[in-house]
Amino acid sequence: EKFMPFVTELDFATGKLNPEGHVITRNLSHMKDMYYDQEAVRQLLGQNPLIYVVYNVVVPETAAHIQHCVTILYPGKVGNEYFMTKGHYHEVLDRAEIYFCLKGKGQLLMQTQDGAFASIDMVPGSVAYVAPEWAHRTVNTGDEPFVFFAAYPGDAGHNYGDIETEGFAKLSVEQNGEAVLVDNPRYGK
Ligand code: 6PG
Ligand code: NI
Repeated sequence: EKFMPFVTELDFATGKLNPEGHVITRNLSHMKDMYYDQEAVRQLLGQNPLIYVVYNVVVPETAAHIQHCVTILYPGKVGNEYFMTKGHYHEVLDRAEIYFCLKGKGQLLMQTQDGAFASIDMVPGSVAYVAPEWAHRTVNTGDEPFVFFAAYPGDAGHNYGDIETEGFAKLSVEQNGEAVLVDNPRYGK
């Protein structure tokens, strides 16, 4: 049977999709061990801020299809570390991805299993290519929601476990009002 073409509307003002599709919400409690300043985590957990929401268009998870979704990453910090996504490798490691920034500003942090690291600054209009085999995490370095559209092969899947254990090589932190990348003291420990 034929899979029928269809359309999803993206609201440029908010980033929301209509229909919403499969919605994933991540509060601090869902990723508390990922932030460096655990004292700041403890202080914020009472209010448990919403960090990001992903609206996923639902399509079959096969290589023939293209997953696509929007992430709305809210502004804020845990200590001096900016709000960020969990970050992941694709479960099928060599599946690439395209990120298209619609609103706000942020960083796209990437790393490979053999120790390479890269970062790309994202502003509205930036179209970033996450090459095959690179783990990816986004960070909101601005003071409004950072919104980006993503598309990737249908069979890619997500591997969060490796990032949960190893972390990212760099942390994105505010220093003197500016976003800087610093070595993650816990990386490789
Ligand atoms: C994906 C995309 C992207 C990502 C979200 C949330 O593969 O689906 O990279 O949609 O999932 O921005 O980030 P985390 O999946 O790392 O929580
Ligand atoms: Ni991805």
